[in-house]
Amino acid sequence: MKYLVTSALPYANGPLHLGHVLEIIQTDVWVRHKNLSKDEALYFCASDTHGTPIMLKAKEMNITPESLIKDMHKKHHETFTSFNVNLTNFHSTHSEENKKLTSEIFKKALEKEYIHKKKISQLYDEKEQIFLADRFVKGTCPACGAEEQYGDACEKCGATYDALELKNPVSVLSNTLPTVKDSDHYFFKLNKLHDYLKMNIQNISNQTPIKAKLDEWLNDNLRDWDVSRDEPYFGFHIPGETSKYIYVWMDAPVGYLASIQNWANHNDINYENLINDEDVKLVHFIGKDIVYFHLLFWPAMLKTYGIKNLDEVFVHGFLTIEGKKMAKSKGNFILADKALTLADPDYYRYYLCSKLNTDISDIDFSINDFIQKVNSDLIGKFINIGSRTQNFLVKLNSSKVAPGNISKSLEFKKNYEEIITLIDKKEYSKALKNIMIIADRINAYVSSEVPWNKAKNDEENECIAICSEALNVFKDLTILLQSFIPSIADKIFSLLNVSDLNYDDLSIDNLNEVKKFEPFITRLEKNDFDGILD
Ligand code: 2FM
Ligand code: ZN
Repeated sequence: MKYLVTSALPYANGPLHLGHVLEIIQTDVWVRHKNLSKDEALYFCASDTHGTPIMLKAKEMNITPESLIKDMHKKHHETFTSFNVNLTNFHSTHSEENKKLTSEIFKKALEKEYIHKKKISQLYDEKEQIFLADRFVKGTCPACGAEEQYGDACEKCGATYDALELKNPVSVLSNTLPTVKDSDHYFFKLNKLHDYLKMNIQNISNQTPIKAKLDEWLNDNLRDWDVSRDEPYFGFHIPGETSKYIYVWMDAPVGYLASIQNWANHNDINYENLINDEDVKLVHFIGKDIVYFHLLFWPAMLKTYGIKNLDEVFVHGFLTIEGKKMAKSKGNFILADKALTLADPDYYRYYLCSKLNTDISDIDFSINDFIQKVNSDLIGKFINIGSRTQNFLVKLNSSKVAPGNISKSLEFKKNYEEIITLIDKKEYSKALKNIMIIADRINAYVSSEVPWNKAKNDEENECIAICSEALNVFKDLTILLQSFIPSIADKIFSLLNVSDLNYDDLSIDNLNEVKKFEPFITRLEKNDFDGILD
């Protein structure tokens, strides 16, 4: 089986934060894991580049939106790479491929009468000459009277409403009183595809809360979706219009396909054949805030276009910091690049994955817990196996691992299979726990066999046998951990003098002459993290 895997396209108006990192690591681990098995997986992503926030940000910076998104694309790509994320292609929604695919989908939807035109009234900022999206207008909640509430919902009482219902509305952009203005908008009649969606998207998620949410949505009529925006806007023109644009959320998911197409074209691969192949699966990793877009709008668009449906959407919860919502305004924010200056990227990968599972509850990043997990699991348990055994073989056996000493490795064979299944199900937390249980067991074995005493007491062969047993398990655990901590795993493989190992190399007598074990990673200290929060 071949998997085309994506994570949500990061919005190109600012740097990535640790919440983005959580998702791209979750995705990268699964892709790497698939490539260690008999399957093949490719990881596609892109910059999400259109919409009002990017247009306004560029204006504020006195640059063009094109220049802003180009700069952000480069920065985001570098951050992905620094976190050891192995992307197949990092493209952009502001690309020829995306423009063509999006307008084809739009035209097909018009043709099939899934999209229709309707006049609507909206708040308008006369000074800035722009229609006000919900987050660009504030006023008094029509339900409870709370002041300073956005145009879509009240943070105080939870009421949702139309921006036109806000009392005393003020434009956030110019601080002026908005007027009400009419304009024609294009709406996607999602409800026309209600039956199709009901029949075809139930299996896209196996996650109970997501299935429940879908049932709730599909048991009702689906509302029309406004897929157009008036100028000024940064995006693709609506086919046949000069002052109207396609809403960013319509071209964003098409960006997944654009990235795949761009890569296919550069690699002499027939895109149409690839995307429509029954043995090729399309899998999206996303956060819980964008489920509606991916499970209703996106399958509806694919159906309109006539491409096969997507195969899986996998949803994770939000990242919290020390138990609290991540918010710049509250000084509770960790930028991805800042985090990289404080600890090894694989440490973050390990820690975040040790908290990830298949439910969609929030995942907490706590500095003390992070330090404790890395020091105790990665260094104290895992690396310890190699650091306490390998050099006996270097000294006493001309660096050779004694052949035939894989009974411990065979003893754990069944556990290895269970761990691989857990990773496949994206139960990373459980998989890592099980790996550490094996590390504990092999460390207990070494401690009880005291090879260092044997080395002193003229029982060198016993010492060599014990250390060889331990080192074979160390090699196996490194294979199982390599999707999580690829750069640390590479260093270990180099010390063990092996390369390109995959799941087929588990419980196999494949170590020969190893190198001297040199400590290569350092423990974390509390003061490493002074100033991590922005
Ligand atoms: O939520 C976001 O940050 C969006 N930029 C995600 C887009 S995902 C896909 F649809 F493109
Ligand atoms: Zn209210």
